[in-house]
Amino acid sequence: MAGTKTFTMIKPDATAAGNTGKIIDRIIQAGFSIVEMKWTTLSNDQAKKFYEVHAERPFYGELVEYMTSGPIVAAVLEKDNAVEDYRTLIGATNPKEAAPGTIRAEFAESIAANAVHGSDSDENAKIEGDFFFA
Ligand code: RTP
Ligand code: MG
Repeated sequence: MAGTKTFTMIKPDATAAGNTGKIIDRIIQAGFSIVEMKWTTLSNDQAKKFYEVHAERPFYGELVEYMTSGPIVAAVLEKDNAVEDYRTLIGATNPKEAAPGTIRAEFAESIAANAVHGSDSDENAKIEGDFFFA
C-alpha cells in the first residue's frame, strides 16, 4: 500500500520570487496536510548530503550552489498516496515539460531552479523528512 507522507522543499528561486505563500496554498488546496514545516537555509554540507545520490551527475556542483543560495521551506506533507500525488501536483523536473496547472509549470524558472522538491519514493520521503525533522 502506498504511504501517506511525502517530503517537500520550496527552493531558493521560489522563496526569492515571493511565491512561498502561493505554493503553500496550492499544496493545501490539493488536499495535503502540513505535518512539519520549517523556514531555513541549507549549509553547503547539508545540500551536498541531501543530494548525495546526484554526486556523480554533471549538475551536482551547480545544484548544491543553487540550493544554498537563499532560504528554503522544508515540510512533511500528509495525504493518501502522498508521494505519487505530490509528484503529479509539482509536474516534471523541466518546467518546459511540466503539465499545465502544475506548480513547476507555474512557478519554476528552469530545470535547475525548479521551485520545489518532491520525494520520489516512500523510502526517500522518510529519509528526507528525518533529515530535517528527526
Ligand atoms: P527533486 O528531486 O528536486 O524533486 O527533482 P526531480 O526528482 O524532479 O529531479 P532529479 O532528477 O531528482 O534532480 C534533482 C534536482 O537537480 C536539479 N537538476 N538540474 N541542470 C540540470 O540538468 C539539472 N537536472 C536536475 C533540479 O533542481 C532537480 O530538481
Ligand atoms: Mg529527485
